[in-house]
Amino acid sequence: MNEMPKFKFTPADKAPDPDLGTDRIPVDRYVDPAFMELEDKKIWSKTWLLVGAVCDVAEPGDYFVFENLRESILVTRADDGEIRAFYNVCQHRGNQLKPEGCGATDSLVCAFHRWEWNMDGTVKNIPEAHDFPQGTPHDELALPQLRCDTWGGFVWVSMDPEIEPLIDYLGVVAEHLAPYEFDDMLLVSDETVEWDCNWKTSVDIFSETYHVRGVHPESEYIADDVNVQMDLYGRHSRFISPMYIPSPRHIGDDKAINDIMADYLKSEGFPVDSYTGDVTTLRDAVAAHKRAMTAENGLDFSNLTDDQLTADYHYNVFPNITFNLFGEQMWVFRHRPHPTDVNKMYFDRMIFNRVPKGEVKVGANAGAVDLFVELGDGVVEGRPERKFYKYGEQSSGLLLDQDASCLATTQKGLHSRGMKGYWLSFHERRIRNFHHWWEKYMDA
Ligand code: FES
Ligand SMILES: [Fe+2]
Repeated sequence: MNEMPKFKFTPADKAPDPDLGTDRIPVDRYVDPAFMELEDKKIWSKTWLLVGAVCDVAEPGDYFVFENLRESILVTRADDGEIRAFYNVCQHRGNQLKPEGCGATDSLVCAFHRWEWNMDGTVKNIPEAHDFPQGTPHDELALPQLRCDTWGGFVWVSMDPEIEPLIDYLGVVAEHLAPYEFDDMLLVSDETVEWDCNWKTSVDIFSETYHVRGVHPESEYIADDVNVQMDLYGRHSRFISPMYIPSPRHIGDDKAINDIMADYLKSEGFPVDSYTGDVTTLRDAVAAHKRAMTAENGLDFSNLTDDQLTADYHYNVFPNITFNLFGEQMWVFRHRPHPTDVNKMYFDRMIFNRVPKGEVKVGANAGAVDLFVELGDGVVEGRPERKFYKYGEQSSGLLLDQDASCLATTQKGLHSRGMKGYWLSFHERRIRNFHHWWEKYMDA
């Protein structure tokens, strides 16, 4: 679904703050396994879920499998060019048709007794069909289909046949994000890390910057954790966190650039040694430098403001998606529940790079290629290898390692008789808002 952008630039206006009260947020929802089943009924099957990237079903025959709690969902592109989503289950005796991951195939064949479907979900072949006295009616035995749509280069699926259209569900978020032109971005990293916490604690930690002082002390020197705008858009939300300016706690009287910031600027190719300004003018200088570099790197920032080039525009889509938007890169976090353990989750992280327009070419036999390869003139083919590991087995980078470590100890703490519920600040109102909507869905 590629609507004409409503805004030339992403609006930065502050949204009004609804009164969501000040009550404690109960914590049994993070630790009691009974909530997993309830969330399956009330949240996961009643919302639109981002299930994967369109580049993984770019060509007819491509497919991928997405798993969420007890459900496994198979997304295909058939010869008619349509992307469809099906429950990934054989209509004979229930075997799963495809394992998690992505690939390309001519048809969907069950490994148990070789029932076979076309990529559009219609029956192709049932061995010994004459031996079924009740018949093998093809309508009845087609793969059960789910609501499926695309937006922003992603495939979204809902198990609720009655749900509002995706574009209405995304609401203002889709309008705000259109200028980023996700469809033109290139998937360069795809990881799933099993974390030792409930999926909601992960949504929570990425909803505020209050934890930066405790969890990411280095980041305070390159990003402002205090002057962060929080916007609530119904069930979705945003923060805008300025970068290239330290926390007010770390701006000295001379306004000089600190060493951590200087190293960060160098790592990004900013000519820090010849920079004559101070920390108060740095964001403007960085934006100007990024724009100047586009003559060389071919990136198109014409739809992004200087603020967007020098801040983290951070959107949460209910229930479990986080878009971290920078000018040249997007980090997509999906906070996915573990299928059996309320104290674990899957942290899915996809990184997309902005590349020169018209030069993204991904998808032919996606999954068959381990790493994307430059084919000259910036043309790129293939997709990055999908990685899976558990927290502690390898690093996910300093920031995420710090978050994962804190979330593991928080998850333990939430089990304590001494924990009476979250006591949230005004800054943390995206968390309060998330729980307001979580409760609304759970009570529905
Ligand atoms: S379970 Fe799939 S063919 Fe029998
Ligand atoms: Fe964090």
